[in-house]
Amino acid sequence: MLPETARVQPEGIAVSFRRSRPEDGAAMWRLVREMGGLELNSAYFYVLYAKDFADTGIVAETDDGHLAGFVAGHRPPARPDAVFVWQIGVAAWMRRQGLARRMLDVLLERHAGDIAWLEATVSPDNAASMQLFRSIARDHKVECVETEYLARELFPDAHEAENLFRIGPLKPKFLNKSS
Ligand SMILES: CC(C)(COP(=O)(O)OP(=O)(O)OC[C@H]1O[C@@H](n2cnc3c(N)ncnc32)[C@H](O)[C@@H]1OP(=O)(O)O)[C@@H](O)C(=O)NCCC(=O)NCCS
Repeated sequence: MLPETARVQPEGIAVSFRRSRPEDGAAMWRLVREMGGLELNSAYFYVLYAKDFADTGIVAETDDGHLAGFVAGHRPPARPDAVFVWQIGVAAWMRRQGLARRMLDVLLERHAGDIAWLEATVSPDNAASMQLFRSIARDHKVECVETEYLARELFPDAHEAENLFRIGPLKPKFLNKSS
């Protein structure tokens, strides 16, 4: 079982992980607005997502209550054996210290036995996000199949194409129910 509280190096900041709550939506919205790199949706959307998809939401916060990062995900009805990560974000002061990986590991542990696939769409120009998801496939020794999912022409604005990263099948040794 992964520890609920992790001490992330090198600053030694203790970060704890939990399900999202509607009260987290405002901080998630602010974090996305401040950090860049993620498409900012409405505050309503973050509050709703944090409430209705709490089981697939992760909030990582410091002891003094600062939001260090979050995962907003859901179980696609058409693929009930998957968790789809809609957005994952880490505050600038917490990056490159393994927090995104830890949040996804906590999410996968929570759904151990229920899901076999981790999915996300990634813009082709987002090197950090691509490496994050590829590193999960590498460390769990499973495939990361990348296919075009949402073509650029679908969007009414200047939105990039979004490729689907589908990681799995996650092996029984990893799907070890514990949280
Ligand atoms: C993508 C993001 C969530 C990664 O968070 P993080 O906590 O810094 O990532 P981690 O420290 O857990 O690193 C995970 C892997 O990604 C790699 N990585 C992280 N940032 C990277 C970067 N800027 N460039 C290349 N690789 C990067 C790490 O080296 C590690 O791979 P490895 O195991 O092969 O060494 C963070 O950069 C972020 O919030 N970006 C803005 C929002 C975003 O683009 N979200 C993803 C789209 S939904």
